[in-house]
Amino acid sequence: MSKVKVGVIGAGSISDIHLSSYARNPEVDIYAICDLNEERARTKAAAYGAEKTFADYRELLADPAIDAVSICTWNNSHAEISIAAAEAGKHVLVEKPLCKTVEEAEKVKQAALRSGKVLQVGFVRRYGANTALLRRFIEAGELGDIYYAKASCLRRLGNPGGWFSDKERSGGGPLIDLGVHIIDLCWYLMGKPKVRSISGNAYNRLGNRANINNLSFYKASDYDSAKNTVEDLANAIIRFNNGASLVVDVSFTLHAKQDEMTVKLFGDKGGAEIEPGLFIVSEQHDTILNVTPQVDQLGFDFASGFQSEINHFIDSCLGRKETLSPVEDGLEVMKMLCGIYESAEKKREIYFD
Ligand SMILES: NC(=O)c1ccc[n+]([C@@H]2O[C@H](COP(=O)([O-])OP(=O)(O)OC[C@H]3O[C@@H](n4cnc5c(N)ncnc54)[C@H](O)[C@@H]3O)[C@@H](O)[C@H]2O)c1
Repeated sequence: MSKVKVGVIGAGSISDIHLSSYARNPEVDIYAICDLNEERARTKAAAYGAEKTFADYRELLADPAIDAVSICTWNNSHAEISIAAAEAGKHVLVEKPLCKTVEEAEKVKQAALRSGKVLQVGFVRRYGANTALLRRFIEAGELGDIYYAKASCLRRLGNPGGWFSDKERSGGGPLIDLGVHIIDLCWYLMGKPKVRSISGNAYNRLGNRANINNLSFYKASDYDSAKNTVEDLANAIIRFNNGASLVVDVSFTLHAKQDEMTVKLFGDKGGAEIEPGLFIVSEQHDTILNVTPQVDQLGFDFASGFQSEINHFIDSCLGRKETLSPVEDGLEVMKMLCGIYESAEKKREIYFD
């Protein structure tokens, strides 16, 4: 059987985990790599045995040998490249966030539906083993009706700079970069209820705190301490049509004692945590139980989560599975992210039809 020929567009940090996961899938041929910086593309092509390199993604998409692409570029080109790839008849795995605006997301959705090809959004957390396990419990009714979720991803000091802190290229700060994962994870596990209203706040009170000494953090390769146009904290309450609510807060920097990553869901029969690790709370015989599953990994494992995302994408390209993270979901998540920014800007709650 012939292999799925894959092209990877954007050869920066995250492309490595796409490429190493493709390399471990026996049904994939890593065929081409593209980056604006062609030297970067060439280095990765040599490392992963790709035949071709390009500096212009349009040339990569024009190659009829390519069946599928991973889009690992800055957020400002996700929509444009996804649309062009769908129009060129390629299956698409686009990194999160789907794009920068709801209008762009609508256009990507139309292009993907027109093409009839797979469009998978890189909501990698959906593919984690702990998420799959919790989903089984939820589908079996162990939590009952989930009416509240609460998620925090707070960095004390962690604005990566570079394109991440350039609103033009990123679309925003911690909300669009980190919030996208935890909002999607809650929404997915809550059963994807329809959004009714959003009240959000965004702050840029601390800047990027390039002055801080003696505490290290990840910096993008093009870090420039003088450049920062994104928020440093955002929070929101999202109400859904089924009465459920989601409370979220995310930061690149905050005067907090320590970093925090928590994701909790509460239902009328039980509760659960998925971050920092899988944990279930239930009630039996008039007694509250704290349940820790005996599994290899309670937390999210980056390598196996990505492997499972890539394998699922390839199975979808081969028509064996439906993607777990379709373009429609990417659009709904964009509505929530952009709704939070809009509410913050207007300083009032906003409503959806
Ligand atoms: N799923 C996750 O957990 C996760 C983690 C990190 C990053 N990401 C996402 O992956 C994407 C890339 O992030 P990164 O950390 O690898 O950034 P990066 O800066 O390390 O790499 C991005 C690369 O894309 C290239 N590029 C940008 N625009 C391009 C274009 N139009 N054509 C060709 N190449 C282009 C840049 O030259 C750069 O080499 C972002 O959308 C980010 O949100 C996802």
